[in-house]
Amino acid sequence: KIYRIAVIPGDGIGKEVVPAAMAVLDKAAQVDGSFQFEWATFPWGCNYYLETGKMMPDDGIEILKGYDQIFLGAVGMPALVPDHISLWGLLIKIRREMQQSINVRPAKLLQGLPSPLRNPNGFDFVVVRENSEGEYAESGGRIHSGQEEVAIQNAIFTRKGTERAMRYAFEMAKSRRQHVTSATKSNGLTYSMPFWDEVFAEVGRDYVEIGQVSNHIDALAAFLVMKPENFDVIVASNLFGDILTDLGGAIMGSIGIAPAANLNIERKYPSMFEPVHGSAPDIAGKGIANPLGQIWTGKMMLDFLGYPELGLKVLDAIEATLAQGIKTGDLGGTATLQDVTDAVLHHLQ
Ligand code: NAI
Ligand code: MG
Repeated sequence: KIYRIAVIPGDGIGKEVVPAAMAVLDKAAQVDGSFQFEWATFPWGCNYYLETGKMMPDDGIEILKGYDQIFLGAVGMPALVPDHISLWGLLIKIRREMQQSINVRPAKLLQGLPSPLRNPNGFDFVVVRENSEGEYAESGGRIHSGQEEVAIQNAIFTRKGTERAMRYAFEMAKSRRQHVTSATKSNGLTYSMPFWDEVFAEVGRDYVEIGQVSNHIDALAAFLVMKPENFDVIVASNLFGDILTDLGGAIMGSIGIAPAANLNIERKYPSMFEPVHGSAPDIAGKGIANPLGQIWTGKMMLDFLGYPELGLKVLDAIEATLAQGIKTGDLGGTATLQDVTDAVLHHLQ
């Protein structure tokens, strides 16, 4: 079997970590022996924008629809292109038009990770983030009249979108540790979050065997630092999920290791696999970026394609590399991107 993958390395360290992860995925396919990847690389991103005035061609979405999945590095060149242009012209455009309504972001304390937590008992949780609406709905505006100035940003929560995220979280918990925490703030937000709580309770009735708890987002953020081992699956709105997942990367020890997947769970369009980190202009071009976030993201693509056992082998190879002390600077080590990639390839058998 052949999987056709559209590759968008993007900008900065995206161009470095993506080839590293492709090498690991090719090796994984070789280890499995039943399939291969066929990569098609697209040079879209900020350089493309500086040449053409667009982040990707007008028919970019149509082109991407011809592939099985999308593997993306990071976009952003803040010194030359404003972030709202690079983000909305490529990343968010793909997420929205491909209806990638679920964003999955795991955080797990692997052996050898320098978690800054005072008492890291080990943790392993996944944030299921609603990825298409909520606080990031494009609704609102600005009013300026006389001395008055007002900015309005509406949050939109549909029953369909909310239920979809909750069901996905409960289904995921079935094959994990049977527990879902809902991130809410119904003591402060008087319309959206009481609705969110209602839908959580309703969907939860279809999963009585799964433990279910609601936590206010502020308390939840504190719990994630104090007792991250208490969490299994966390379901969160777009904004809350965005914030919690950077926190997830931070308590592992570096944002450079945190993986993510934007899923079209109906499998009508390709899903997009991209790490949590950005293009890291401060270290780009030096060969010292941590490739593990991109490699772990590749593991999530293997899971989604139906190879979870192979995915576990990749995660084991990542962990063996860290446990051996082969780490890039963000994790306190001195290894280069190539050293880390070579070690992962070596451990992947
Ligand atoms: P960033 O994630 O690029 O960098 C934050 C810090 O983490 C920097 O000090 C960087 O050196 C470090 N870092 C990140 N990834 C690393 C890795 N793999 N290995 C070692 N160190 C790593 O976030 P920042 O600086 O806020 O954004 C830079 C650009 O990236 C901006 O244009 C931003 O819009 C864009 N961005 C793009 C994302 C995407 O494409 N998915 C996500 C986040 C930011
Ligand atoms: Mg973010």
